[in-house]
Amino acid sequence: MGKRKGPRVPYDLIGSRETGAVAIVEVPEGMDPEEAAREVMSRHPHVKSVLLKAGAREGEFRVRPLKLLAGSEETEVIHKEHGYRIKLDPRRVYFSPRESTERQLVAESVRDGELVLVMFAGAGPYAIAIAKRRRAQVVGIELNPIAVRYFQENVILNRVGHLVFPIEGDVAYVTPAMYGRFDRVVMPLPKGAYAFIGYALRALRGGKGVIHFYYWGGDEALSEAEEMFRKEAASIGLEATSIGYRIVSSYAPKVYKMRVDFLVRPLNVE
Ligand SMILES: C[S@@+](CC[C@H](N)C(=O)[O-])C[C@H]1O[C@@H](n2cnc3c(N)ncnc32)[C@H](O)[C@@H]1O
Repeated sequence: MGKRKGPRVPYDLIGSRETGAVAIVEVPEGMDPEEAAREVMSRHPHVKSVLLKAGAREGEFRVRPLKLLAGSEETEVIHKEHGYRIKLDPRRVYFSPRESTERQLVAESVRDGELVLVMFAGAGPYAIAIAKRRRAQVVGIELNPIAVRYFQENVILNRVGHLVFPIEGDVAYVTPAMYGRFDRVVMPLPKGAYAFIGYALRALRGGKGVIHFYYWGGDEALSEAEEMFRKEAASIGLEATSIGYRIVSSYAPKVYKMRVDFLVRPLNVE
């Protein structure tokens, strides 16, 4: 779900018709925020709260400051996409409804029977998207305790408790105990995942597998990502080859959030 056409104010909706939704608005210069909120609420009767983007995403938890413009203080919702539900409060945990296609693309690339590690798992959308799409087991690691609580609830809500295992903690501390176990690693932390490449490589079983790496940068982003993986992999006797990439979103001319997919293998193995 991207920015919607119609009203003059750009906004995202998180939630559903059945359980209510919140609208997250960007009010253009010169527009009255109250008027913007009324416009969105009149267009979508199921919107119970309108929240104004009051700054950039911040801190380790990547949560954006959001100011209540209109409606209920209670901003917890259940978001529906592609046949699964994600319960969350956008004021307390990261979530982007615009990335639903991205989650599906990653989920589709997983094969039945794989063991997948989702680092930086948030309220669990990648892990649940994968388990709903494939017969794969997924471990998700997340630092924000509120996001972990939602992640656990979402596992139950989507009946994937036999497939998805949330772990609360820092990827840097939790992953080493699971080195050598996974067929695939997802790294959805565009502004910081590069610091965890070594953990992802060591998490692969027999040094073989696929890593979906998210990165933020300009025209050089792809070659920067390739170079970081090449160096880190070589330092531990592995080879990481990029097998595809996707621009997930662009923020300004030539500033992208992108996913780069790497195939990893032991060095010098035919
Ligand atoms: C960009 S958000 C993505 C969340 C989720 N995957 C999604 O797509 O909705 C990154 C998440 O990583 C978590 N995080 C940041 N640093 C972490 C770390 N060192 N270990 C585990 N989680 C971390 C944040 O709390 C945040 O929820």
